[in-house]
Amino acid sequence: MTASRKLLVHSQTTPLGGAVAVPGDKSISHRAVLLAALAEGVSTIRNWLPAGDTLATLEAVRALGIAIEVNERAPHAWDLRVEGRGLRGLRRPAGPLNCRNAGTAIRLMAGLMCGQSFPSMLDGSEQLRARPMTRVTEPLQRMGADIRSEDGHAPLHIRPAPLHGIEYPLRVASAQVKSALLLAGLYTDDAVRVYQPGPARDHTERMLMAMGAVVTMQDGWVTLSEAPFGGRRLLPLDMTVPGDFSSAAFPLVAATIVPHSNITIRGVGVNETRTGLLEILRQMGANVKIANQQVTGGELIADLTVGYNELHAVDVAGPTVVRAIDEFPVWAVAATQAAGASTVRDAAELRVKEVDRIAVLAGELRRLGVELDEHPDGFTVHGPRRLRGASVDTHDDHRLGMALVVAGLAADEPTLVHDADCMADSFPGFVETMRQLGAAMEWLEAR
Ligand code: S3P
Repeated sequence: MTASRKLLVHSQTTPLGGAVAVPGDKSISHRAVLLAALAEGVSTIRNWLPAGDTLATLEAVRALGIAIEVNERAPHAWDLRVEGRGLRGLRRPAGPLNCRNAGTAIRLMAGLMCGQSFPSMLDGSEQLRARPMTRVTEPLQRMGADIRSEDGHAPLHIRPAPLHGIEYPLRVASAQVKSALLLAGLYTDDAVRVYQPGPARDHTERMLMAMGAVVTMQDGWVTLSEAPFGGRRLLPLDMTVPGDFSSAAFPLVAATIVPHSNITIRGVGVNETRTGLLEILRQMGANVKIANQQVTGGELIADLTVGYNELHAVDVAGPTVVRAIDEFPVWAVAATQAAGASTVRDAAELRVKEVDRIAVLAGELRRLGVELDEHPDGFTVHGPRRLRGASVDTHDDHRLGMALVVAGLAADEPTLVHDADCMADSFPGFVETMRQLGAAMEWLEAR
């Protein structure tokens, strides 16, 4: 493996401006390639995200015998033609399926592989092996699955076993766990019902419905109905993946904190299970406009225009947290420029993301001069603060890395971000996009 490069970020003395698009949504890209593999016929998926995480899913699907043709329409936007072989058409892979750093890949595939008639093993990077897997293995075992973890962690060992339905209240509002159970539910005759304590992202449900499955959502319960007479079948997909709101969040916050900026991000997915950050930023005084709303592939997209504004502190807790769960690293950067103490609570999940995002974020932001208190389930940022340039590290966490880049724009001196290649796990072309908006940053080769 080649060593990861450093990124030198200059302090931003001129406003950010212009219009950009961000690459396709990561959550939707994982799901689209997995579900297309199970469809009866050929799916067309436009604007698919070729990022580190989603490529792990694509390669795993190929290893399961599915033919995928790639047309590189733009460097970070692929069009896929996936030859689905039906729910029973996957083939036994030659070796372990490597999910790399992708939590979504391993947890969703855990559900899918439990329904197969061959054994499999799911594994990934050291970082992925450190993340909790009992949240998926335990309910899958209750559905009859023969799935074994190593002390609650990957690698996951799966053997064929007949599955049955389940009624399962989630302890944490996790879209990955919900999706794993729905995918396993494609291999049961009876219904799968999952209760989510908060509105976690619903892309799996929407996509399954678009493919002809009967999924209902009521009073917090998501239900995949019992198999129809003649068995379950999925129709092929024909869709365009929306721009990833979680990627848009980085330029969005940058424009909010760099004086006199005004930018537009086109074609961003604004499914309301994902846009908690917009509400939070608006409460802080940010000026965000939503235009050109339209529906594509069952998902709402829009253009977002955001300008600089003075921000004030806000407290975030409760159901908004899951709707903004991936955005807290960059929200923390916005909070450094807001007047007063901003606190997030009910976000203990951040401790089991790619890294412990509370501890690691606190450590790295403090290097830039941020005053931050850690809580078991969140943190408080004291603003406003002038940030100082410093040497910081991504800890191989893409979102932490991009948040540090945004912080670097607001710092008085240049900021050196170590181990920065991981930003392509979710947002390939992040640096080019920020440059298009007028930010100055340059790659330094790894030694
Ligand atoms: C994701 C769900 C969330 C999110 C992750 C992507 C998904 O994780 O943090 O980046 O695509 O289902 P949890 O389901 O663990 O909350």
